[in-house]
Amino acid sequence: MIAVNEPLLGHRELEYVTDCLRSGWISSGGHYIEEFEEKWADYCGRRHGITVSSGTAALQVAVASLGLSPGDEVIMPTFTIISCAMAVTCSGAKPVLVDSEPQTWCIDVDQIEKNITARTRAIMPVHIYGHPADMDAVLELARERKLAVIEDAAEAHGAEYLSERDTATPHWRTCGGFGDLSCFSFYANKLITTGEGGMVLTDDSALAEKARSLRNLCFQSRRRFFHQELGFNFRLTNLQAALGVAQLERMDQIVERKRWIGREYNRCLSSVKNLQLPVEETWARNVYWMYGVVLSEESGMDASGFAQRLKQKGIETRPFFLGLHEQPALHRRGLFLGESHPIAERLARQGLYLPSGLALTEDQIFKVCDAVHEVLA
Ligand SMILES: Cc1ncc(COP(=O)(O)O)c(C=O)c1O
Repeated sequence: MIAVNEPLLGHRELEYVTDCLRSGWISSGGHYIEEFEEKWADYCGRRHGITVSSGTAALQVAVASLGLSPGDEVIMPTFTIISCAMAVTCSGAKPVLVDSEPQTWCIDVDQIEKNITARTRAIMPVHIYGHPADMDAVLELARERKLAVIEDAAEAHGAEYLSERDTATPHWRTCGGFGDLSCFSFYANKLITTGEGGMVLTDDSALAEKARSLRNLCFQSRRRFFHQELGFNFRLTNLQAALGVAQLERMDQIVERKRWIGREYNRCLSSVKNLQLPVEETWARNVYWMYGVVLSEESGMDASGFAQRLKQKGIETRPFFLGLHEQPALHRRGLFLGESHPIAERLARQGLYLPSGLALTEDQIFKVCDAVHEVLA
């Protein structure tokens, strides 16, 4: 079976984790944590990094840092992971859903404005499967309407976006560099992994302080075990941060490898009929976190039938997200009942991703592509 993802760990990871074990700094104290926070924030062009225990925790801390009130609204794509909606509902606020753009699969920025109400407080764009959302449009709306931006960059380490592309000074910016608060996941299938882990980035010192406090049970520095507010224990360990620091040392290589996997798949699959491949808009550098494909209805198959056929040929795949508006757990809370978002519904029905891990070899890519060709022939 060719796995959908396998992490690629090297001797540096072993060296730094061993250093933690030898020194005894195995929980949330230790120099790798600060080093990871500083280096990742710096890579993304941010002033502050706050490590947390997962990408989900990052979203939860980011939303909580904004101090939303019940009834406040946060606009997000329906085509994303449940963590986005969960972070908002846990804060007492309400997620408001927007459909996706059919080529990039990211939030359709043209639909955001008509969903803004007097209660809207924030927009949460998500960079899907390694392709950036169209951030200038999001940032402009946020500026005009005085909304916060929580950027979910959990799938887009190292992806880039050409900002101000219609001006005399277009410039590339790294994903994670856009939100008032930006969130990453370092789960084992991500470009950089700490096993489990996440980070919140911001340039705002007050938000950074708030996020740090929320991550660590809102302990106070002057009087321990005295709490003005309720927080979470979302601390990352030094052991995990050591993995992150080791991987960051080869970040450029990792991004290049992912882009190479994307290019190889594009080359081998471009002639397959009835299969939509991932795009790379002229204003984007896709890191192909996961190489997603969407079957056309003319293929006579949906994604689950396609996945079964590929599995018989030894290829593991994963289905695309099921839209938030189709989630029973959210319906039970009275959310999104009767909503329809046709692009996301089609992506959920017809989309899946192929093996995309860093350990994937050229030979394996060819095997996957041969199987795809055979099944769709
Ligand atoms: C877009 C997005 N946001 C958030 C998360 C949550 O990250 P984690 O699994 O680390 O909690 C994920 C996970 O893959 C994700 O894809």
